[in-house]
Amino acid sequence: MDSEVLPKGKPPSASAVEMMHLVLPNHANQLGNLLGGQLMQWMDIAAALVAMRHAGKVCVTAAVDSISFLEPIRVGHIVHILASVNRAFRTSLEVGVKVFRDDPINGTRTHAASAYLTFVAIDQYGKPLPVPPVEPQTADEWRRWREAELRRQQRLQQRELLRQLRHHHDVPQASEH
Ligand SMILES: CC(C)(COP(=O)(O)OP(=O)(O)OC[C@H]1O[C@@H](n2cnc3c(N)ncnc32)[C@H](O)[C@@H]1OP(=O)(O)O)[C@@H](O)C(=O)NCCC(=O)NCCS
Repeated sequence: MDSEVLPKGKPPSASAVEMMHLVLPNHANQLGNLLGGQLMQWMDIAAALVAMRHAGKVCVTAAVDSISFLEPIRVGHIVHILASVNRAFRTSLEVGVKVFRDDPINGTRTHAASAYLTFVAIDQYGKPLPVPPVEPQTADEWRRWREAELRRQQRLQQRELLRQLRHHHDVPQASEH
């Protein structure tokens, strides 16, 4: 018999995160545009906080997909990040991150970037641990919950295809990327 105790479900609102950063010159390129890598770091941290709050465990980033940079963000803008858990699987969960560009002078808000990140809860030896299910409450949360399953299937299919391809070609370790 499986003696694993399943953790209790939680709504996305219990772990959702909202973060803001003022874009300074050290975050930007020579033209004053926010660097993509800096934004990705902020998005990863916001999403990691959501994952750890939901799981109640240390979580590591397993995959980042569908990241889109829609609008440039400039020095003086506020990066406003909303992140929440879409769905939990067994030991992994998907977090959706939406980034707004807030202009503090004229008060406008623009959707500037989005991404989905997958985290895995692990113990001190790196072994994956079970995570609580997500219990959606609103229509939007149910939609995200349903769509997350499709993305998971695509991610795992791609992972399996790459494994098979590497196995088939028997690529030596030293030349792997
Ligand atoms: C993420 C990690 C723990 C997965 O380990 P693994 O040996 O592949 O473990 P498993 O095959 O048992 O998979 C564990 C879970 O991860 C998920 N997973 C693994 N790779 C994945 C990927 N590329 N995309 C989505 N999910 C993935 C599996 O689906 C599984 O989830 P489930 O239990 O909910 O079904 C491991 O690859 C790791 O430690 N990676 C480095 C993570 C890290 O350091 N990130 C920071 C960036 S440097």
